[in-house]
Amino acid sequence: MWIQGLSALAALNFFSNGALATPVATGESSLEQLLESSYKYNDGSVVEMFVDELKALTSTNSSSCSQCVTRLSIGKSLALLRPDLVPEVYTRWCKETKFMSNTSCVSTYSRNTVSTSQTGTNFADMLTLIDPFNYDGQLYCHYKESACPKPSTPNVTLSNMWSPKQPKHYVAPEPSVNDTFKVLHISDFHIELDYTVGQEANCSTSMCCTPHSVNTKTKKNETSLPWNSFYESKYDENNTLIQGSYVDAFGNSSIWAPATTFGNYECDAPEILINSSLNSIVDFTKENNISFDFAIFTGDLVDHDEIKYTGYQMTVDSEVAVFRDIKDRLESIPVYSVLGNHDTFPYGELAPEGMGFSNYFNWNAELMADMWEDFGWLDAKSSQYARKHYTGFSVETKLGLKIISLNSNVWYKKNHYAYFNASQPDNFGQFEFLIDELNESESNDQRVWIITHIPFNGDSLPVPSKLFAEIVARFSPYTIAGIFFGHTHLDQFQILYASSGNDAKQIENVVNFGWTSQAVTPWVENNPSWRYYTVDRKTFSIMDSFNYYTKLNETFTNNGAEPKWEFEYSARDGYNISWPATSPLNGSYWHEVAQKVNQSKEYNQIYENYAKRFSPYVPDCINTSDCDEDYCFLTSFTVDSYDSCIASLPKH
Ligand SMILES: *[C@@H]1O[C@H](CO)[C@@H](O)[C@H](O)[C@H]1NC(C)=O
Ligand SMILES: *[C@@H]1O[C@H](CO)[C@@H](O)[C@H](O)[C@H]1NC(C)=O
Ligand SMILES: *[C@@H]1O[C@H](CO)[C@@H](O)[C@H](O)[C@H]1NC(C)=O
Ligand SMILES: *[C@@H]1O[C@H](CO)[C@@H](O)[C@H](O)[C@H]1NC(C)=O
Ligand SMILES: *[C@@H]1O[C@H](CO)[C@@H](O)[C@H](O)[C@H]1NC(C)=O
Ligand SMILES: *[C@@H]1O[C@H](CO)[C@@H](O)[C@H](O)[C@H]1NC(C)=O
Ligand SMILES: *[C@@H]1O[C@H](CO)[C@@H](O)[C@H](O)[C@H]1NC(C)=O
Ligand SMILES: *[C@@H]1O[C@H](CO)[C@@H](O)[C@H](O)[C@H]1NC(C)=O
Ligand SMILES: *[C@@H]1O[C@H](CO)[C@@H](O)[C@H](O)[C@H]1NC(C)=O
Ligand SMILES: *[C@@H]1O[C@H](CO)[C@@H](O)[C@H](O)[C@H]1NC(C)=O
Ligand SMILES: *[C@@H]1O[C@H](CO)[C@@H](O)[C@H](O)[C@H]1NC(C)=O
Ligand SMILES: *[C@@H]1O[C@H](CO)[C@@H](O)[C@H](O)[C@H]1NC(C)=O
Repeated sequence: MWIQGLSALAALNFFSNGALATPVATGESSLEQLLESSYKYNDGSVVEMFVDELKALTSTNSSSCSQCVTRLSIGKSLALLRPDLVPEVYTRWCKETKFMSNTSCVSTYSRNTVSTSQTGTNFADMLTLIDPFNYDGQLYCHYKESACPKPSTPNVTLSNMWSPKQPKHYVAPEPSVNDTFKVLHISDFHIELDYTVGQEANCSTSMCCTPHSVNTKTKKNETSLPWNSFYESKYDENNTLIQGSYVDAFGNSSIWAPATTFGNYECDAPEILINSSLNSIVDFTKENNISFDFAIFTGDLVDHDEIKYTGYQMTVDSEVAVFRDIKDRLESIPVYSVLGNHDTFPYGELAPEGMGFSNYFNWNAELMADMWEDFGWLDAKSSQYARKHYTGFSVETKLGLKIISLNSNVWYKKNHYAYFNASQPDNFGQFEFLIDELNESESNDQRVWIITHIPFNGDSLPVPSKLFAEIVARFSPYTIAGIFFGHTHLDQFQILYASSGNDAKQIENVVNFGWTSQAVTPWVENNPSWRYYTVDRKTFSIMDSFNYYTKLNETFTNNGAEPKWEFEYSARDGYNISWPATSPLNGSYWHEVAQKVNQSKEYNQIYENYAKRFSPYVPDCINTSDCDEDYCFLTSFTVDSYDSCIASLPKH
């Protein structure tokens, strides 16, 4: 099938030396024949020929979409025979046609290494299984190359995996009267292991403050920054701040804005900021004589540095460092975790089991399962689950709540392994795991929280997004008591409605919603923050959330003193919604908030202040159009509903 329409059939004829009359390379024997005849030619000439094929395509007048699809099919013909040559062919083609910058060509197409996060090997793996001329190809060419329009989402369902809802499952159980416990929610630490005081915090790449961060514009003026916190400090074993030596940060006149001790808005979190945030949590519990029953962590430990600085060892070191720091400070509090899109290597990649590539990623599941079990966060059975479910697992807390952890790289737009069989519902088997767990809990009248990293209305592929919404609708509100994401670094939520379209966004159509946590990392342009929930002891519905933050800019000018962490707001009081004290903050509550965001720019501003924790970079919702897409985000649970909501907005 994938061979039809291929203008570069010469490629195959080259291999077959004209011996194959029909260009059908599907059967085992014809593949072997082709491979055998290819031995007559040296690799250099095969590479040369494929590069020429790809270049010839670029010079035609066919649409960018059809070029992208044909390029996939040429790539597939090569990948089936010689996957090892794919990286070289594509890197050369990409550079020689200036398809992207040389740096992007290398990171996208060059062969995988352990030192940088190149994905050419993963691209070749994908090519062997992708169907260029159907949904797979259109999807890839839309999301990976912006070359094709978004293909319409196939009509998939997983409803064969559950029984119809029983009447009692249409309502949420009633909470007990004012009997709650507390759960900590932390997210997106993004440790910057090479954060260096005095280095450029105003750099020309996206993440700064490393020894290789530079601002490519020449600085002409003496600095006028009043900053003075340039100490190489750290916390000792008793969590006491030890002030380190002072760095002569303004001594280098080519640096625009030198990195200060506790972090910067254009940088990820130095370890000292992570320690400070964890100390603030522990101090808070002591000062208020409270305790957390457990914590959830919704992913992302590794920083946002450029791909060429993101290596395998750095990924492992970041994961280990942050979990160790968390364990060190939270001691016996169990922490139920997920991995984020940065917590894999190469960046964003994860292969389904049973396709021959998942062994590249086993190290991560092994490391997490061992670590989480060693720390007492998972018992042996759940840790075994984590090994087998892409680090996902299911646990039951002391009070009987089930927590299901999922790895969202399975539906991540950047993961090459999510692009083959993309119209099939569950290539990774992760939804089957989720549904099995939900079925079991429903039959036991047990309530469930789902934790994962990437929300389904943003960086998710449409098919898994639609299926997750279907699952949530089936098991809400009776079984699913909470859904928790991270990833955006913003304090957000997103509501699932029973039917699509803006007109359907009515309170009676609310199905459920997801909490998206703010981040500890200040990148990009947010104040570091964390939250905890008060949770009904009987139903595990959430009664309130309490958010704490630090004004990072105050640490620039305080001579290296510790950040001050303070109360930011509570979700029940912070939005001026009249809501019964005995009702949980459910999807209907957030529907009221979203409607007010839509109706009033002043109210939208309140939401944005919270989203970015009052950082100096909060957009002005009243005098600009910067906040106009907020309502779509808050009221769309899936990619397709988000896209159609955005399309319905008036153009600026
Ligand atoms: C591409 O289109 C341009 C302008 O329409 C035309 O001049 C040129 O000959 C075309 N090239 C090919 C290879 O068809
Ligand atoms: C990009 O790579 C090509 C081919 O290797 C080389 O000729 C060109 O000089 C490079 N461009 C830049 C900007 O480095
Ligand atoms: C999608 O499938 C369902 C059930 O299989 C069917 O009822 C529905 O009509 C289909 N919708 C479309 C748009 O094909
Ligand atoms: C619940 O209990 C807390 C402390 O015990 C009290 O401050 C609060 O007013 C109570 N709320 C309700 C709705 O009874
Ligand atoms: C000053 O900083 C720049 C990076 O912004 C660096 O390249 C240069 O080596 C530094 N100069 C000195 C004298 O440290
Ligand atoms: C230096 O900065 C001052 C004040 O910010 C500005 O007025 C002046 O034009 C700048 N000089 C140069 C050479 O950029
Ligand atoms: C952070 O805390 C850990 C212990 O939890 C300690 O090993 C590490 O040195 C500390 N780092 C900094 C920079 O404070
Ligand atoms: C940490 O505290 C313990 C107990 O108070 C003390 O013995 C130890 O010396 C302290 N460590 C440091 C580095 O101050
Ligand atoms: C950051 O650098 C840009 C030039 O790249 C400059 O325009 C801007 O003023 C700088 N900001 C600070 C705070 O140094
Ligand atoms: C702290 O809380 C516990 C139970 O929550 C209580 O038993 C204890 O007396 C409290 N201690 C103080 C100092 O308030
Ligand atoms: C794709 O899905 C089809 C139908 O379920 C299945 O037969 C095939 O093995 C799958 N192939 C891959 C590469 O996942
Ligand atoms: C920090 O930023 C906030 C928000 O822009 C501002 O109100 C505050 O004055 C700033 N503090 C300092 C010390 O610059």
